[in-house]
Amino acid sequence: MKTTLQIADIALELRRYPLQKNETLQAWDAADEYLIECIEEKELEPGAHILFMNDGFGALSCWASLKGFQVTTINDSWLSQQSIEQNLKANDLGHVAMLSSLDTLPSDIDVVVMKLPKNNRLLVWQLQQVSQLSSKGISIVAGAKVKDVHTSTLKLFEKHLGATLTSLAKKKSRLIFCEKEKQIDALPAATTSFDVPDYQLTLANHANVFSSESLDIAAYLMLQHMPQDEKIKHIIDLGCGNGVLAIQAAKLNPQAKITAVDESHMAIASATMNLANHGIDPSRTHCMVNNCLDGFTPDSADVVMCNPPFHQLQAVTDHIAWQMFCDAQRVLEPKGRIVVIGNRHLGYHTKLKRLFGNAQVIASNRKFVIVEAYK
Ligand SMILES: C[S@@+](CC[C@H](N)C(=O)[O-])C[C@H]1O[C@@H](n2cnc3c(N)ncnc32)[C@H](O)[C@@H]1O
Repeated sequence: MKTTLQIADIALELRRYPLQKNETLQAWDAADEYLIECIEEKELEPGAHILFMNDGFGALSCWASLKGFQVTTINDSWLSQQSIEQNLKANDLGHVAMLSSLDTLPSDIDVVVMKLPKNNRLLVWQLQQVSQLSSKGISIVAGAKVKDVHTSTLKLFEKHLGATLTSLAKKKSRLIFCEKEKQIDALPAATTSFDVPDYQLTLANHANVFSSESLDIAAYLMLQHMPQDEKIKHIIDLGCGNGVLAIQAAKLNPQAKITAVDESHMAIASATMNLANHGIDPSRTHCMVNNCLDGFTPDSADVVMCNPPFHQLQAVTDHIAWQMFCDAQRVLEPKGRIVVIGNRHLGYHTKLKRLFGNAQVIASNRKFVIVEAYK
């Protein structure tokens, strides 16, 4: 795997964080290189202010920082933010302003450079954020794999910002060029919600939350098999999304403290709001943006519940699920348990058995299994 991004006379050392022993995935892609080439051609004034949206691991922010531009970088992913910070440090580069997807954009942007997000709701939210900037004539350039740029994607740029063109394909990537012509005075509501009538839940979701328009079918099965025991003191919902499992766990175990963890800022904002809206006393709950259970005290939880992710940004991977299981093993009290739901074919049963020395299927349907393992 290459770790040096060479562009003309510039060489950047770039890694994905957290570092993995046998990492096979590069920390940048051809769309990053295409975007950098395109910004070079713009011949921006030194010190021009570039806003990067969704810079996955820091290739764009590091390059622009090295070139002496003013850089603001905005992400929903905490892991992306960590990668950007670590890669800046590894290349001895200076400060860039780091914002989360829920922050207000700075008003003095010259150019917006976007990596197209996987999720169209997030794309629309970000286009609306740009549309709200008061300055006219900002140019926006977005990059992605050719297969992810659809006519419908271009229509979203046109609808929210203005005239939109695309580049030729290069190394299976394409750029989208757009000029900001439209302006909105205020952003629409940041969340939408749906009901889960069987459990009297109404779940609000910021744009980039997993399964933000209806309940995930795995989560629905999990709701039917939640841990419930008056001896439980502390439950962790690991990869909490909108907090659906955390809310139900809190309702069924009123004596327990609930910690909800996710690496998405929008997930944590949604879970915080949903727990409060369902009457769960905030003194019992703690919602935090984090990478899995990094920094958690060993032997400090009775139950870890988990509906693990199988993607990191655009890449399909099971390394995060594995890290979640390893972290749970460390953070669970002796005799504590992990309860995991997943697609049958993902083989979580075998993985948990290898790690915990035991694993039982406690429920299943045609597609999913719930597996429990005790420390
Ligand atoms: C399959 S979704 C489950 C969401 C929710 N618990 C549910 O059941 O609907 C997995 C969640 O894990 C989160 N996630 C991904 N990588 C993570 C990491 N390294 N640390 C913490 N959470 C992570 C994702 O943002 C996503 O919300």
